[in-house]
Amino acid sequence: MVRITTEHNGKLVDWDPYKSKLGAALQKKINIDLRKDDYVLYLGASTGTTVFHVSKRCKGVFAVEIAPRVIRELVFVAEENDNIVPILEDANHPERYPDVFCSWLFQDVAQKNQVEIFIKNFQTFTPRLGILVIKARNVNSTKRPDLVFKQCEEELKTHFRIIERKNLEPYQKDHMLFVVRKL
Ligand SMILES: C[S@@+](CC[C@H](N)C(=O)[O-])C[C@H]1O[C@@H](n2cnc3c(N)ncnc32)[C@H](O)[C@@H]1O
Repeated sequence: MVRITTEHNGKLVDWDPYKSKLGAALQKKINIDLRKDDYVLYLGASTGTTVFHVSKRCKGVFAVEIAPRVIRELVFVAEENDNIVPILEDANHPERYPDVFCSWLFQDVAQKNQVEIFIKNFQTFTPRLGILVIKARNVNSTKRPDLVFKQCEEELKTHFRIIERKNLEPYQKDHMLFVVRKL
């Protein structure tokens, strides 16, 4: 495993692939094309573990999270990193976010309609690049994960050009990450 770190207040913080899907993807050598001048719309921000690492590599992160209890932790992270904007909202409703601009969309929400949410947000904000994490069990807990991934990919292909796909094993079980651009 390669050590990937982020500098914060003079200290190095490890980007743990077991705690972050994007961290797992980086360990698996995915090209994420995140630029210093990118604004990121991050759906499923949770307590901000991955948001923190992303925020140090771009201009700003609009971090959407639906759970009030969880977003409290994210607010603490945002207090120390002033380019993170926590948004307490449901990713099913991009029209409700404050006025945001993004060139990079990242989604990691544990929901059955993960692909639908991603398409809706991508179409609303038309980023340069989109990254979607699929957790097979959330989409269909009785179907084989490889079949769930295939079904999601077919759906994505009707809207996007798929640049890369990566199974996140052994760091994240039954997770697939797709990198897409618009057709
Ligand atoms: C797997 S966790 C995300 C972990 C995070 N990406 C990280 O790496 O630190 C999924 C998060 O998505 C949030 N979530 C689920 N449905 C959502 C929705 N409709 N809108 C916004 N957030 C949602 C959950 O509350 C949870 O915090």
